[in-house]
Amino acid sequence: MAVRLDLPDIQGLFARGYSKHPHARFTVFTAPRPASGGALLDWLIPQVTAAAPFSGDVALQVAFTASGLRWLGLPDRVVAGFPAEFIQGMTNTNRSRFLGDVGESDPCRWSWGGPGQPPVDGIVMLYATDQGVLTGRQQELRARLADNGISAVTELPALERRDSEPFGFHDGISQPVIAGLPKAVGARQAVAAGEFVLGYPNARGQLPDSPLLPASADPLRLLLPDPAGSGAVDFGRNGSYLVVRQLEQDVDGFWRFLDAATRRADGSEDPTARTALAAKMVGRWPSGAPLVKAPGQDAPALSDDNDFTYRDDLPGLACPVGAHIRRANPRDSLPSGSATSLTTSGLHRLLRRARSYGPAADGPSGTGLYFMCLTADLSRQFEFVQHTWLNNATFNGLYDDADPLTGNRCSAGAAFTVQARPVRRRYPGLPRFVRARGGAYFFLPGLSALRYLAQLNKGAQK
Ligand code: HEM
Repeated sequence: MAVRLDLPDIQGLFARGYSKHPHARFTVFTAPRPASGGALLDWLIPQVTAAAPFSGDVALQVAFTASGLRWLGLPDRVVAGFPAEFIQGMTNTNRSRFLGDVGESDPCRWSWGGPGQPPVDGIVMLYATDQGVLTGRQQELRARLADNGISAVTELPALERRDSEPFGFHDGISQPVIAGLPKAVGARQAVAAGEFVLGYPNARGQLPDSPLLPASADPLRLLLPDPAGSGAVDFGRNGSYLVVRQLEQDVDGFWRFLDAATRRADGSEDPTARTALAAKMVGRWPSGAPLVKAPGQDAPALSDDNDFTYRDDLPGLACPVGAHIRRANPRDSLPSGSATSLTTSGLHRLLRRARSYGPAADGPSGTGLYFMCLTADLSRQFEFVQHTWLNNATFNGLYDDADPLTGNRCSAGAAFTVQARPVRRRYPGLPRFVRARGGAYFFLPGLSALRYLAQLNKGAQK
């Protein structure tokens, strides 16, 4: 059955990555107690960009952590309706271990969001067509936060959007096509909207869990009804979970390792072999061409190609079994068999919205990605992919190989295997190329829920 998405109530990040808005800055903030968020929300809400068609030169999104929702006055019993992983947060000790945030990625070493640092309550994300416009809006935001006694934990300036991530590979190619969005018309494999936004059926045909309130808690009738028809109102409807992780990339270390691993017998560097091995780690060539379709050399004509499975490459001879994209979305290549594997992979899709960053006078000193993704289920989607596929040293029949790009190499997983005939080639001793430097789980509410939050603070619900 066709799903009608309430696009004017859903924040725009669900429908687009703002590729036409190449300049972006993300302000992570901590709020004073007692609450003073209503005034801030009154100012922010008219600027929030919805998922309905949009052509403005600046877009703004706002999201909150569990502590931010409490600060805004959402009663504990409603916050308790969110899943444990959201309430506990990304840096809860058990979650950190599960996510592989140990050793050099331990939250104790983070530059924001870690223990002992100011609590993260929310994030305001600005996207603009032009750097000047972005700077102006950022100044207004800074002044407005200060007027409300709210401090920025950090401002995260993104690099002007390019097609490539810092290791030099075309990124942002493979995205789920979401049923109900215009792009899904005629698409072969649209993913249910309820995988990424609450209030709609998910891939299993069920409504995602959502924090409900009795209708009496919403006398101004700002919230939308529970789509399951319980008579309650649904705070979560049209909202999504937003994962934000600042992932620092050791770009020199990555290419140094590849140079050393592909050096010729006479000790000279072999740039062709080095790029080929890097492509094997990613599963795509720098242009983006997928290895399953272009196994021997880069094929820029295929740079945006996402129409492939691993059916004809189950042994991994074209695209290694442990390549980043084959772990992050194994498509039909899990040992359960093609059809089951496609269904399983469909339960763990992520709507990625990353931006890269580089050394900036007023920002982080390193280089990397602000990895961001939207999900309707943090645990089944983001945490599962990170733990069970990317960081898993025994993924799909391997035995000491974590993700060659993102693996943390803590107790295992420092090898990369390239399947080949007559014998596979193993590259042991992979260093860590990616370190977590900050992060948090946010909830990106629908516009109705934002309006509800705005008036909570003003005593209307007391
Ligand atoms: C700094 C860290 C990372 C880098 C440099 C990186 C790089 C890439 C690149 C180059 C691609 C191929 C382009 C594309 O298919 O869109 C890709 C795809 C992907 N990545 Fe990452 N990535 C990073 C972290 C992560 C993390 C932490 C996750 C999830 C927890 C993730 C999930 C994915 C997914 C789901 C795909 C698409 C796979 C597919 O559908 O074929 N990535 N990444």
